[in-house]
Amino acid sequence: MAKNLRYRSLKGFRDLLPEETRLWAHVEERIRRVAGRYGFGEVRLPIAEETALFARGIGEGTDVVGKEMYSFEDRSDPPQSITLRPELTAGAARAWIEHAVGKSENLSRWYYLGPAFRYEQPQAGRYRQFSTFGVELIGSERPEAEVEVITMGRDLLGDLGITNFRIALNSLGTAEERGAFREALVTFLEERSDRLSEESRRRAATNPLRVLDSKDEADIEATADAPSILDFLGEESEAHFARVRELLDRAGVDYEVDPRLVRGLDYYSRTVFEYIGGDLGAQNALGGGGRYDGLIEEIGGASTPAIGFGFGVDRLILAVEAAREEPLPDPAIDLYLVALDDAARLWAVGMAAEMRGRGFRVLTDLQGRSMKAQMREANRVNAARVAIVGGSELEREVAIVKDMESSEQTEVPFARLPDHLSSF
Ligand code: HAM
Repeated sequence: MAKNLRYRSLKGFRDLLPEETRLWAHVEERIRRVAGRYGFGEVRLPIAEETALFARGIGEGTDVVGKEMYSFEDRSDPPQSITLRPELTAGAARAWIEHAVGKSENLSRWYYLGPAFRYEQPQAGRYRQFSTFGVELIGSERPEAEVEVITMGRDLLGDLGITNFRIALNSLGTAEERGAFREALVTFLEERSDRLSEESRRRAATNPLRVLDSKDEADIEATADAPSILDFLGEESEAHFARVRELLDRAGVDYEVDPRLVRGLDYYSRTVFEYIGGDLGAQNALGGGGRYDGLIEEIGGASTPAIGFGFGVDRLILAVEAAREEPLPDPAIDLYLVALDDAARLWAVGMAAEMRGRGFRVLTDLQGRSMKAQMREANRVNAARVAIVGGSELEREVAIVKDMESSEQTEVPFARLPDHLSSF
């Protein structure tokens, strides 16, 4: 890295240069393909929303809202508090209500791909600006909806060649069931508070379910026999969860029930799930989601069941890199036009325009360089062929075409150049 730079990107914010964006474009293309296969349409949502939407939707007691939001006042009078979206579900639900989408369709299948912002401590796989791919299936309370969404996430990982992952599944019940569980858990945690980490002691008071999520060894040991949410499910929630599992089995989805999976956002009810990568170290959640039947009503819409997931695209990229045996093929340039003087440069500009119009990838020298330097550049950009033109070629209206791999040279009349290239 260069020293004494005047400006650097913000901590946790990254530049992606062309050699990296090629893999990103590939992954994004696969994402859109899978979403299309399940009939999901893309929504593009604003990058910022009113702060209150997130506070209300995600929950004041969550880390995301309490510690990680980029919130600031804008210049309106009186100033308004706005927040860079830390996730897209709340904004999607807001848009769905605002456009009264439920009036014109019974079921909405939305997907999105774009940046989100969380003020977290950056580390491998964790950034302050990260990219998410998410889906929201709005309007079905049926367990089939869970299976549709969970299967789609599994298919995406398969399509990307990521095989080292597992799916964790849990049910958080209804708000009441979770309330009863929460009480039992708080009592349990109070009894053991001397064995908990400081962070978990603090959490036991603010967001006790998250203690079950702790990666701290002492916490894991102290909570090994903690009450299980699954023992607090009422009949309906239990039947729903059983049906979800039955359908997942039928769809051939491998999963493990993990009663400690709680997720970090308050809007979930009943089914929650996570795709956990095996090659990613500490930040191993490739994606996660769940049902959020109460969110739309919570933020002012009519009571509407919904379910969705979010994947971290940055983490998908890391997993693809870990799994990939062969690099993406180099981008090829079909033809590099090497011009030896100004008259030839004039010809090259015309020929490049014509060839690009026919769909060829063509480059010319833009720096007035020598023939040798142009040949070196053609090599560097991985051109399949070069066409060399100087005074005598111009006179005879032919180009010397060199195949860069075999080094074979042939003379090709200008008028025949496009056909000559098409023949490969
Ligand atoms: P989430 O689990 O908070 O869920 O985030 C989804 C995914 O985003 C995570 O599994 C992870 O891969 C990625 N992610 C989160 N934070 C970071 C970060 N700082 N750096 C890199 N990647 C990160 C949600 O956001 C829910 N909205 C998902 C959802 C949609 N639930 C229902 N519908």
